[in-house]
Amino acid sequence: MRVLITGANGMVARAAIGHCTALSDEVIAVSHGELDVSQREKVFKTIEGTAPEAVLNCAAFTDVDGAETNEDAAYAANAAGPENLAAACKEFGATLVTISTDYVFDGTKDGFYTQDDQPNPQSAYARSKYEGELRSAAANPQSIIVRSGWIFGHGGTNFLSVVPDLAAKGKRFKAIADSFGTPTFADDLAVRLRQLAVARAAGIFHATNSGDGTTYYQFAVTAAEALGAGSRMIERVSNTELKRPAARPRNSRLKCIRSNEVGLAPLRDWIEALNAFLNEKGGK
Ligand SMILES: NC(=O)c1ccc[n+]([C@@H]2O[C@H](COP(=O)([O-])OP(=O)(O)OC[C@H]3O[C@@H](n4cnc5c(N)ncnc54)[C@H](OP(=O)(O)O)[C@@H]3O)[C@@H](O)[C@H]2O)c1
Repeated sequence: MRVLITGANGMVARAAIGHCTALSDEVIAVSHGELDVSQREKVFKTIEGTAPEAVLNCAAFTDVDGAETNEDAAYAANAAGPENLAAACKEFGATLVTISTDYVFDGTKDGFYTQDDQPNPQSAYARSKYEGELRSAAANPQSIIVRSGWIFGHGGTNFLSVVPDLAAKGKRFKAIADSFGTPTFADDLAVRLRQLAVARAAGIFHATNSGDGTTYYQFAVTAAEALGAGSRMIERVSNTELKRPAARPRNSRLKCIRSNEVGLAPLRDWIEALNAFLNEKGGK
């Protein structure tokens, strides 16, 4: 498959580039510097010029707290970006897979959020991502929108990705013990993005590792124990104690009620995926 991957220096993009390359796809990877997805004309030119069969949109403004004071930049990348790509994919016959977030939900539900639940974004980042969902679907009903959450992976700079390094170094750190989510290994998400592109399964999908989900604290403890580092240096905190600018959902665990219908089995359990991540890190 000839595949264009945007936001090429990001964590999920790197996993997608690695996965598609391993499957002998013809990968065209474009970084933010090479293609700003908010620039409509450039997006159209790039898709016309490279003629991909599929576009995996991994580009996004992902600074959740920063978006509170830079909403325009968040909307440009997260709302106009997917819209531009969706329209260009429609025009030039490519399949768009674009990533959205568990943060589109407000977190008041107990249990798992499915595609039947109504989004109610609570931060500027979340609003921009939800707007991206709406605009990409409106511009091109064949768009594939993949909500994921709590992503960890190689090259990632977010809490879940760096926790193993903190634990291995015996550093003291705080981890939130009262927010619940479904962790997702970027490598597994990359597999699912490509599968959905191949299936051309339009609409909204949820893609996370399976299991009951966890808290940041429990994720950190699980990683530390797997590394034989012990968990005494991990301090439990509550979400509100951190006083971060952007609101986060208390619970944003996701379940997909549509992957079965397109013949896709659930992704592996998050603990198995975390162990694979740790083993790969150890081998690098
Ligand atoms: N990480 C998570 O836990 C999580 C959870 C749920 C959903 N997601 C979604 O998953 C997707 C991938 O996230 P990630 O964790 O891989 O993020 P990431 O590591 O921050 O990568 C995002 C990439 O997009 C680039 N970018 C930003 N604005 C752009 C623009 N206007 N045009 C083109 N590229 C642009 C960034 O480049 P610069 O750094 O140069 O700006 C960066 O390389 C995003 O859609 C994100 O919203 C992530």
